[in-house]
Amino acid sequence: MAGHILAIDQGTTSSRAIVFDADMKSVGSSQEEFTQHFPRSGWVEHDPEDIWNTVVSTVKAALRNAGLSAGDVAAIGITNQRETVLLWDRQTGRPVHNAIVWQDRRTVALCEELKQKGLEPKFSAKTGLLLDPYFSGTKLAWLLENVEGARARAEKGELLAGTVDAYLIWRLTGGKAHASDATNASRTLLYNIADNCWDEELLSILDIPAALLPEVKDSADEFGVTDESLFGAAIPILGVAGDQQAATIGQACFKPGMLKSTYGTGCFAVLNTGTSLVRSSNRLLSTIAYRLNGETTYALEGSIFVAGAAVQWLRDGLKIIGQAADSGKLADRADPTQDVYLVPAFVGLGAPHWDPEARGAIFGLTRNTGPAEFARATLESVAFQTRDLLDAMHKDWPDGGDEIILRVDGGMVASDWTMQRLADILDAPVDRPTILETTALGAAWLAGFKAGVWPSAEEFARNWALDRQFRPQMRDDERKRKLAGWHDAVRRTLTHN
Ligand code: G3P
Repeated sequence: MAGHILAIDQGTTSSRAIVFDADMKSVGSSQEEFTQHFPRSGWVEHDPEDIWNTVVSTVKAALRNAGLSAGDVAAIGITNQRETVLLWDRQTGRPVHNAIVWQDRRTVALCEELKQKGLEPKFSAKTGLLLDPYFSGTKLAWLLENVEGARARAEKGELLAGTVDAYLIWRLTGGKAHASDATNASRTLLYNIADNCWDEELLSILDIPAALLPEVKDSADEFGVTDESLFGAAIPILGVAGDQQAATIGQACFKPGMLKSTYGTGCFAVLNTGTSLVRSSNRLLSTIAYRLNGETTYALEGSIFVAGAAVQWLRDGLKIIGQAADSGKLADRADPTQDVYLVPAFVGLGAPHWDPEARGAIFGLTRNTGPAEFARATLESVAFQTRDLLDAMHKDWPDGGDEIILRVDGGMVASDWTMQRLADILDAPVDRPTILETTALGAAWLAGFKAGVWPSAEEFARNWALDRQFRPQMRDDERKRKLAGWHDAVRRTLTHN
């Protein structure tokens, strides 16, 4: 029974574990949600014990559901919510504070201060990122500044820091390994993506001691071995990637020009640009797609903070749908003569606007506007935002070709209505694969490939299968009218113009 691969997917709202067999088929899985903490407006935290406990229990449940034991698993692949950062005691493993989540906006002022000093071009040139609270670096600086005693302890070498992958590796190996991979490092604002190393100059600007940071490895590499007492056998951890990069791999976007977009809490579009580090002039991110055998593959990324989270808002906030799956049916009943636009800037706006202080807004309400128009505006906002990202990508990298085909995954893509509207607004085909577990599959491929039990990238790519292609059907003049209305709504929502 050996030769199985276990993927751990530690996401923003839940942890999942999936066991794949040697034929790359899922044979058992488990998922657990955990509590989100919002201690102040714009702040988002996770209890590290929740992260850890849900990972351990979902791994055990996935193995049980598959009828397997830890001895049947050849390797573990980890994928994770990115940018979220933790700081913990190297002796006890105890975190000094809750994890600060990627959505957290508490470092707006610090980012602004760094921008005022003219430092954004320096950070961008080295990291491919922008000075936005989204990334880990300013969050880590906040922890060192604001948690009592943290800086002194960090300087004495008593603390360790890392993104969620590094924290999990540390705990899974019983404190033996402090490691991360190049994709996760590329989201910290501290990692030089051209030179592939922690950047001393940026560390010194943010006053972060280098000794806090993990060793950065390839995405398929030896990250350590799980402590035997956890699952009953020692399992090597051989694959690690941030969740959007893992989805890029799971969608087999291995060739330059291939593009995927994942619709989870947020939406993240990642365009493989091959071995060339393409610099964005349109406020997209340049980032590491994966690093294999020491070779770095780069990507352009567009990050939208709110996609599925807006559907959750329809369900839990407005209570106009009973379950997320009802949103498409409701949107379909909307009055076509009403132009209602929602700009879901609930936690500011990400790419290509980067306005952390913007907040959500709705435009075009009339006496006839009701739940159906709200639902349509919500789903369309995801399509409009994706369109903005793709337009920016095309401007940044015209060599990428005119014929865009977008591979999609994530919870929202189950909705045919939403996918059709996406194709209509993009004016481009949208491909939905048969396997929607792409994030976990990507992490599993990294581990299976390294373990020598899964095939090469080329063969893995041949396994990718289309469920359905959505082709644009909307009339050109209607699309143009809608896009103009959307851009007007965004302009009125931004706090800077
Ligand atoms: O950059 C944030 C991203 O990694 C979070 O992904 O799927 O947990 O919402 P998700």
